[in-house]
Amino acid sequence: MFDYEAEMRFYQPRFRAACGVRAGDRVLDIGCGSGQTTRDAALDAAPGVVLGVDISENRLAQAPRLANVSYLLADAATYEFERFDVGISRFGVMFFADPVAAFSNLRRACGRIVLMVWQPRVENEWARVIPAALGGAFRDDSPFSLGDRSRARGILTAAGFAEPTFTELREPVYYGPDVQTAYDNVLQLHEPQKLLAELDPAAADRGQEALRETLAAHDTGDGILFDSAVWIIEAM
Ligand SMILES: C[S@@+](CC[C@H](N)C(=O)[O-])C[C@H]1O[C@@H](n2cnc3c(N)ncnc32)[C@H](O)[C@@H]1O
Repeated sequence: MFDYEAEMRFYQPRFRAACGVRAGDRVLDIGCGSGQTTRDAALDAAPGVVLGVDISENRLAQAPRLANVSYLLADAATYEFERFDVGISRFGVMFFADPVAAFSNLRRACGRIVLMVWQPRVENEWARVIPAALGGAFRDDSPFSLGDRSRARGILTAAGFAEPTFTELREPVYYGPDVQTAYDNVLQLHEPQKLLAELDPAAADRGQEALRETLAAHDTGDGILFDSAVWIIEAM
């Protein structure tokens, strides 16, 4: 299983601080996945409560169980939520088919939102270098769908949020302590698997060898690290 908690080790303390969850808050964690951000929000919100929502049963099954946390298997785009003081999301809100409708739904539920989203692919070394090493391109651009600031602002204001603010963070993403672990981690991800499956066997071998070389070139001695850039978006 790809270790998102490790990958996000430089971002999560900054995201947690940006969320500004206070004791007693009611928090919605949108696209909570396996619940790392849910857990941190729960620690900050206690005795308040956190609801983690996700469409993936597998991810929710791995999420930590805490007294003031509950989880909901639902589509955050359409589910009729109760009211929350704050909605938070780390990379969980870039996948909506109709983003204005989805954010309108979240606007009704949340007093304010704090989102962490990837900046465009071009700003994210991991998203350029890994497909290039494998000898192709990742086709799914949805992780970067809120990377363009004016597009993201347009979506959020059309959904009823007042002028959103964008704060840039640039931190490395961590793929593992050594080349072999990072290699295994990358090959567990959906897009690399898809790309390799489309190559003929000789090209796939070359791609995997080139991936090893790329990972070795990013071995800092303190783990395999790639540059990356995100926005923290806050809106009310
Ligand atoms: C990149 S993962 C991030 C997971 C988690 N927030 C984290 O940072 O570890 C994106 C998550 O959003 C969830 N997701 C995507 N679309 C969703 C939707 N419409 N409603 C609820 N969850 C959704 C996915 O199932 C996935 O768990």
